Amino acid sequence: MCGIVGFTGKQPVKDVLIEGLAKLEYRGYDSAGVAIEQSGALEVIRRRGNVSGLAHTLGHFDLEGTCGIAHTRWATHGRPTETNAHPHLSCDGRIAVVHNGIIENFVELREELARRGHDLASDTDTEVIAHLIEEEVKGIEKEGDFDSMSPDDFVRAVSRALSRLVGSYALAVISSAVPGVIVAARKDSPLIIGSAPAGSCVASDIIAILDHTRDVFALEDGQIAKLAESGFEVYAAGDGECVPIEFELVHVDWNMDIAEKGGYSDFLLKEIHEQPRVIRDTLAGRIVNGSIVIDELDLTSEELNLIDRINIIACGTSYHAGLIAKNLIEGYARIPTEVEVASEFRYRNPIITPTTLVVAVSQSGETADTLAAIRDARVKGAKVFGITNVLGSPVARESDGVIYTKANKEISVASTKSFLGQVTSLTLLALLLAQSRGELTTGQVKMLFRELGDTAAKVEEILADTSAIDQAAASCADASSALFIGRGQGAAVAHEGALKLKEISYLHAESYPAGEMKHGPIALINEGFPVIAIATDSPTYDKVVSNLKEAQARGAKIVAIATEGDEQIRSIAEHVIYIPKVRDAFSPILASVPLQLFARAIALLRGCDVDQPRNLAKSVTVE
Ligand code: F6R
Repeated sequence: MCGIVGFTGKQPVKDVLIEGLAKLEYRGYDSAGVAIEQSGALEVIRRRGNVSGLAHTLGHFDLEGTCGIAHTRWATHGRPTETNAHPHLSCDGRIAVVHNGIIENFVELREELARRGHDLASDTDTEVIAHLIEEEVKGIEKEGDFDSMSPDDFVRAVSRALSRLVGSYALAVISSAVPGVIVAARKDSPLIIGSAPAGSCVASDIIAILDHTRDVFALEDGQIAKLAESGFEVYAAGDGECVPIEFELVHVDWNMDIAEKGGYSDFLLKEIHEQPRVIRDTLAGRIVNGSIVIDELDLTSEELNLIDRINIIACGTSYHAGLIAKNLIEGYARIPTEVEVASEFRYRNPIITPTTLVVAVSQSGETADTLAAIRDARVKGAKVFGITNVLGSPVARESDGVIYTKANKEISVASTKSFLGQVTSLTLLALLLAQSRGELTTGQVKMLFRELGDTAAKVEEILADTSAIDQAAASCADASSALFIGRGQGAAVAHEGALKLKEISYLHAESYPAGEMKHGPIALINEGFPVIAIATDSPTYDKVVSNLKEAQARGAKIVAIATEGDEQIRSIAEHVIYIPKVRDAFSPILASVPLQLFARAIALLRGCDVDQPRNLAKSVTVE
């Protein structure tokens, strides 16, 4: 989260930065700021609130500087205040930094810097970077004169400071001591450098600089770039030293529409591909010394241990994330958990007591029924914990605590990346509750957290080869109805798979726990009827296989989502879509991805608009 933009060139940079920030606002908008070199000093202006507020403030300043950096923030460490807004400065105000990412060892770095006399003004993790660079610059100063620090010295100072950081970063740094130069670096957060006729630019996303350049280089992890009016150079950084490297500019001829889609043909596909990043961002900083950390829950461990019932309330896809969470919370934390669609919950007079934790899950954070259910639960004395993707949304404001899924703005109406963000966040909640109540040891939590993190790379594996998904989709696209089945976590995934299919392809789909087939839905099956089964490695795998044989005997066309290495399933299913091996508890994170792609492929074959399906809206603000 957070957006960065920087420009150094021949012309005043103020408007370029503001226009760039406006395009990055989808990455966060709780505060914004700029640092511009002006007459040998850094002019820093920061404001709480969105970019238009900052633009208004900047209108009162006479800023002619031609080199600057800017930032729009989505708070992680420190509240969304003006003091915590970026850019952050070193003690002497001669270094300014904007940063996207999380510095995991910032607490110890902060203490260390304070011991050496640094005065840090904000609560952010970012500020330590400015101070570490300052120390490195001063180290260089001993060997020479600060004011004659060369651009290469500046790059080296940044590189040495970065070698102290644990975590993720994309950052841009300027110094009044080295006019006209921006140093940019990245590790696990995106950063694009551009070469423009009027100068050089850097941004978190190409859309922020596309008006100025079409020749870009996507910085890779561990690389540092030095930008000047005349162009930029790239270095490989290791152990604080920098070695110049060759790089090739890529010419993009995207229009803004394609650029916003990141080169994908639709937002749905772009957002499906963002899911590994969402998992990683959602987990970043959530374990410290083997303990799960969700400070936003704002409950002491005594209060956590008093919880004797959990009610998850949500709608649609968010409700399906809740079904997955029920299995996790009951399985790991042993707390009775109910999941209910908010539109039912709010009119039912449910049993809620002060020891009930209500978890409200909503991507948009403004679904009318979910909000009404939150209000009802709070009147009844329950603590409400919101899980949402939208900063400052009504669900966030009206809940006692909130965890933000790190999906960034989701544009396609069908939820994909926000769903995986919800499932990942709810899994963290289950682990926290289990650990706090002594149901899981620190060692078990560490292992589970690591496996949860590993799902990101496994989702990447699924995304790398979609040929089996496309073949299955082609063979089902003409059907008029389909049945999705699974057991346990697979049943929850089946519900989500069916919803995705019907909402974007308009192909009717039902979903059932596989064991329920014989109680009615099996009557649907005739020759060629598509049955999509979640048949991954699980304690009920054999039962699912038996259900599939029953469907096969009646002529069903079976598409199975199965675990790599399962050869048996090939004799039953016409199409097998393999996913990497993962523990059953976390299998929904992997198994739902091929179903998203399956639904999209069918929708495209049926000529549907996958980003804006008919009759639907991204936020359902009426009941
Ligand atoms: C389906 C979908 C919807 C939403 C539902 C709840 O892809 O996106 O089913 O999940 O409308 O919306 P939120 O999560 O915003 O409360």
